[in-house]
Amino acid sequence: MKKILVTRKLLQLNEDRLKSLYDAKLNSNDELYSQKKLIELSEGCDGILSSLTDKLDEDTINQLPKSVKILSNFAVGFGNINIEAAKKRNIIVTNTPEVLTDATAEIGILLILGACRRATEGIEAAKTSNWKWSADYLIGKQLTGTRLGILGMGRIGKKIAKIAKSLGMVIHYHNRSKLSSDKEEGATYHKDLKSLMSVSDVLSVCCPASKETINLINKETLEYLPKGSIVTNVARGDIVDDEALIDALDRRKVYAVGLDVYKGEPNLNPGYLKHKSAFILPHLGSATKETRLAMANLAIDNLEEFFKSGKSKNKVN
Ligand code: GLV
Repeated sequence: MKKILVTRKLLQLNEDRLKSLYDAKLNSNDELYSQKKLIELSEGCDGILSSLTDKLDEDTINQLPKSVKILSNFAVGFGNINIEAAKKRNIIVTNTPEVLTDATAEIGILLILGACRRATEGIEAAKTSNWKWSADYLIGKQLTGTRLGILGMGRIGKKIAKIAKSLGMVIHYHNRSKLSSDKEEGATYHKDLKSLMSVSDVLSVCCPASKETINLINKETLEYLPKGSIVTNVARGDIVDDEALIDALDRRKVYAVGLDVYKGEPNLNPGYLKHKSAFILPHLGSATKETRLAMANLAIDNLEEFFKSGKSKNKVN
């Protein structure tokens, strides 16, 4: 029986499946393992079912026992793993694409709505009964007719575009390559970021975190936006330079932000707290029961496929 380290607590059905297939070291207290502890616990394991909270950098990967042959990451993003270092050690890395597209796109839309329609201020006022209806009370930005710039038209970007279009938004996007016109569904392609940002009344960051995208939204690129635009991020905190975004909020260059992810999670940059126009969630993108079950099942399928065939269709390195 293969031995697997499962770094975070999963839903019961998923843990039951793991126990039936493997000698599984589960984390019943859902402790956040340090890199040192993770290395110790993986002793004798054939694989690790990791999560986005595990920082598997080069140093950590190099100290993993030789028996570890697969890192099956319980996420579509794999910015927490140095995939080249893993490759050098002959460890395959897999992710969980497709199954979280809908749930994450729903949160992407919530961010757009929450930021545009001043949800943070509205919720606070309602909870304290401290408001009075008036014709100009908490006036926000209407989505209908507003231009949405999608940075990264992958699965999640496309689903956000589809929903946003049904809400009357006008879709623009930037991607490494242009989609074929049948897949664009009327969206306008921009071959560079500057061009996309200059038409984005609302920006939705949907691209993966990589060497190329870290801090892509920064002091310089934020200037490309029209004044009073809205920035949302459903992808990864590393893509946005928080200091620059907070400064843009301070200067009202940016009117509001909607963030499901941010750097240094769970510690939010306190600069956001002074802005009531910041609508911020604690990384809820894939947090529905159906999706979390499907993600963990796919992470387990990836292990199974690898142990049976030495391959995985969801290999990323
Ligand atoms: C969630 O953020 C994921 O990458 O799966």
